[in-house]
Amino acid sequence: MTDSDKYPVESDRRRFVKGVVGSAALSGVGITSAVTADSLTTPPGAGGGPTQYMGIERVGGPAPRGMPQIPIEIDDDGALRGVWPEVETETTATGQEIQVAETEIAGTTYSTTWYQYCGSQTSPAVEPDSDRDNYFRYSSASNYDWQGEFSGGDKVMVSHFDDYEQFGTGVGDAGLGKPAQATWRSQDLEPRDTLGVQIIRSTAIEEAAQDDEWLSETTAEGFIAYFNSCTHYCCVPGFQMHAGSAGYGAENLSYCNCHQSVYDPFTVLQQQFVALPRPSDTVGGQG
Ligand code: FES
Repeated sequence: MTDSDKYPVESDRRRFVKGVVGSAALSGVGITSAVTADSLTTPPGAGGGPTQYMGIERVGGPAPRGMPQIPIEIDDDGALRGVWPEVETETTATGQEIQVAETEIAGTTYSTTWYQYCGSQTSPAVEPDSDRDNYFRYSSASNYDWQGEFSGGDKVMVSHFDDYEQFGTGVGDAGLGKPAQATWRSQDLEPRDTLGVQIIRSTAIEEAAQDDEWLSETTAEGFIAYFNSCTHYCCVPGFQMHAGSAGYGAENLSYCNCHQSVYDPFTVLQQQFVALPRPSDTVGGQG
């Protein structure tokens, strides 16, 4: 992709500000007209449909909305994993029984339909009752040099991020957070079915979580995670990953180098989209 394909960054906001996340999330101001248009023009289907979610903010470029957050928990050994809700059976308006995985967190309905876009809706990883390891595991190919000391598939551990308050990738300012590329619920799956995740440990998240019920429940020890699939055309953005991001004011944000979409991983908003149906829940699909 060349610079001639660039889209201007629409905002140079920096929201490393305590309290922004909470007020925005509670008021729902993150729902944009672009997102509404998306919901009106895409038909729902079994196992999908209009979905409200909590996600990082899209701040520039052609992407229509932010990327969905993944609630985190840390086990007794210090390993990070994503929360996967309990599975229940629901009956649709047409009488079809489908399985859903959702739960209430801090007054928000957390559903795994949040991740049903960009082809992931066909992945076994998002099947509600798929019995999978919920641990985050390092990607086998990462753009972050520091991950070279780990093998793809190794568990992401808190102790690997001890230097997060000073860490720098060489792109943007040091000290904003330590990022990693990981996978989720994807062991033994084909690359096309793998769920890619961005993890960041940052003091900005620690501070924001002090005043925000959602973040205090879904982040841990400064770690935030989100499904790292660009909502434009499904490329893989990166936080402080691409040197070229500086040309778009995105060197301290998450930048997608396919068409210059920019996301702020430190601002989480309530948003909405139409989740794509899972093939196994569609009439004629594979059970
Ligand atoms: S900006 Fe087009 S795929 Fe990310």
